[in-house]
Amino acid sequence: MKNIVLFASGSGSNVENIIKYFEHKPQVSIACVLTNKRDAKVIDRCNKLKINCLYFNKTAFSKSDCILKILEALQPDLIVLAGFLLKIPQSLVKKYPNKIINIHPSLLPKFGGKGMYGKYVHEAVKEQKEVETGITIHYVNEKYDDGAILFQAKTELLPADSVEVIAKKVGELEYAHFPEVIEKLLDS
Ligand code: GAR
Repeated sequence: MKNIVLFASGSGSNVENIIKYFEHKPQVSIACVLTNKRDAKVIDRCNKLKINCLYFNKTAFSKSDCILKILEALQPDLIVLAGFLLKIPQSLVKKYPNKIINIHPSLLPKFGGKGMYGKYVHEAVKEQKEVETGITIHYVNEKYDDGAILFQAKTELLPADSVEVIAKKVGELEYAHFPEVIEKLLDS
């Protein structure tokens, strides 16, 4: 049995997609979803799907060993950031080398870094008149959106595509590929 722990800060549509993908695969368990947002929609999704979800505040995350202790108890084989917006502290990166992955809604290194998340990425892509965008799944290190790239997928953009259309195209790539990349990593 392999254990996944997910971190999320927002809507949690990727979390829901991952939970549903592994629902009928008994060899993989979603041990817990951890969130830093008390009112995040991801909490409702977890309640509906009957998956453990814990809220923590920023201090617990960055200035104490509270999250490390929780992770020690959960024994994750893989830690997955699915729309998680805080920087991962060095203590966590050190404790779980090559065991923390993140999904980013652009073709890194383009449109990455602090403040580049969610719709801000798609707005920048539109502004720069990009002819394609995509997703990047990468290992996490101490910097934002900087670790070794595991997987990328592209989608074409039309000049008329709105920010919402770009977000939808990228979302479709995320839902199609993220669970499979996670599964492959767990098998490797
Ligand atoms: C996803 O598009 C994910 O790639 C992005 O946040 C969204 C979360 O959506 N992550 C980042 O921008 C990280 N820099 P969701 O909460 O509906 O899964």
